[in-house]
Amino acid sequence: MIVCVCRRVSDREIARHARAGMGFDDIQFELGVATQCGQCESCARDVVAQCSATAPVAAIQLASSITESRAWTSSQASTQG
Ligand code: FES
Repeated sequence: MIVCVCRRVSDREIARHARAGMGFDDIQFELGVATQCGQCESCARDVVAQCSATAPVAAIQLASSITESRAWTSSQASTQG
């Protein structure tokens, strides 16, 4: 979905930058989002907030990756032993 019509910036692009640890100001500078009419700013900020490193989704993804790595380690141990 296009968030910023003026600069043709999508929510996926904003999310990708936010997940990389960039804040709204950095993303605005990098992509030019919300630098013309400004109509998209609140929506763009919402996307950044949802995708920042402290978002619950990130914690869930981290927790599942830890579980998966444990499963991998235990199966590795049984095949090696
Ligand atoms: S829609 Fe983003 S600056 Fe106009």
